Amino acid sequence: MALDVLLGLQWGDEGKGKIVDYLAPDYNMIARFQGGPNAGHTIVIGEDKFVLHTIPSGIFRENVDNLIGNGVVVDPITLAKEIKGLKDAGLNMANLKISSKAHLILPTHRWLDAASEASKGKQKIGSTLKGIGPTYMDKTGRNGLRIGDISTPQFKEKYTALAAKHKQLLSIYPAVEFNHAEEEEKWFEAIEAIKWIPVVDSMYYVNDALKAGKNILAEGAQGSMLDIDFGTYPYVTSSNTVSSGVCNGLGVAPQQIGKVIGITKAYCTRVGSGPFPTELNGEVGEKLRTLGSEFGATTGRPRRCGWIDIPQLKYTIMINGVTSLCVTKLDILNEFDEVRLAKEYTIDGEKTDKLPFDMNSSKIYVDFETMHGWKTDLEGLENFEDLPSAAQEFLMELERLLEVPIDFISKGPQRRNLILRNVMA
Ligand code: GDP
Ligand code: IMO
Ligand code: MG
Repeated sequence: MALDVLLGLQWGDEGKGKIVDYLAPDYNMIARFQGGPNAGHTIVIGEDKFVLHTIPSGIFRENVDNLIGNGVVVDPITLAKEIKGLKDAGLNMANLKISSKAHLILPTHRWLDAASEASKGKQKIGSTLKGIGPTYMDKTGRNGLRIGDISTPQFKEKYTALAAKHKQLLSIYPAVEFNHAEEEEKWFEAIEAIKWIPVVDSMYYVNDALKAGKNILAEGAQGSMLDIDFGTYPYVTSSNTVSSGVCNGLGVAPQQIGKVIGITKAYCTRVGSGPFPTELNGEVGEKLRTLGSEFGATTGRPRRCGWIDIPQLKYTIMINGVTSLCVTKLDILNEFDEVRLAKEYTIDGEKTDKLPFDMNSSKIYVDFETMHGWKTDLEGLENFEDLPSAAQEFLMELERLLEVPIDFISKGPQRRNLILRNVMA
């Protein structure tokens, strides 16, 4: 009986989808516990590339249940489109389940998201505009509609009342273009299209599975620095992306949590606004973006790039209780003469490895350690010992500073591009 967690330790896009897809055969169930279609999890299988927004990344594996948990916010339009794409690719979707308590994203939530961003002027969050913030606001404001409401006779009435409330609220924001009639029509069509998905009482579903000795992997979305409580507020998303979010997002008790696998890129990226202490605005950042194809999987926006940040990672490792690290995109550093890691910050003349209260207004100077690059293609290397010594040293330095074992090293988008360490193959 085990519920392991896999989540991002930076600002998202660490490669969660790839690793969950790889690990899924070891589990009976993969469960998303927070976020919504703001997520874009890429899985590359041979020549095919899939981007998942709501569906867990275990969907490509046989005999693995894939649960959309109660903590997720669901846009029927995106979900129906995602299902169609996967079905067209020949995938069997029989193992998909959805929680009755997952909240619904209405078209007006997306409209409100756009209007709210428009009202912020230069302080824009850089939201994906998928309606995430307004939907979680309605959840905590006790106004929301849930998957379980769809099959009730009052559904249409509740929908109409909520949409009307949203329209009133829109009057306080600047006007933004939104074809509501069209989006509403698509939404109701999508509601019909997703009705076949088995709706489960996910708390019982998950706990019964654990009782029956099944293994579950909770798949995080976004990254810990985008957490509503612990991230770079207000430049965050609207859910708890950290490991404690698993308890709320699936209905499991904290003592059920086993391994917490934290994922970090070998460098760092962020999409959207907000502080990013190690950001590189010049040639090196551009090189990382180009080599790493750092463009958002959901919005296509260029991702901001910088070096890996040790104080930032120490912080998210602490909050999540990370027991095992996965470093992805090591191959992107192959062509660099030197690689850097941010070891410490200097804030107000004081050296520190702690993040300040407000990363937005603190002037953070970063002290870097520079290490030799390896200038070697890593394709085909299967063991840690096969890696060039400079790459081994870089990883061992990370491990030494972060005090958590690096058990997975990813060096390409394909399933085979993964080195396992300390764990059985
Ligand atoms: P997620 O949101 O955390 O699942 O990550 P994304 O899918 O948004 O972004 C990660 C991108 O990096 C995707 O395009 C992956 O196919 C790709 N990727 C994942 N791991 C590696 C790796 O080790 N090397 C390379 N080159 N690409 C990778
Ligand atoms: P995955 O799961 C990277 C960012 C947005 C914006 C902020 C708030 O693929 O790692 P929101 O739409 O939630 O209101 O946006 O959070 N963001 C992500 N950045 N990866 C993601 O998901 C993200 N989901 C949201 O760019 O800055
Ligand atoms: Mg992503």
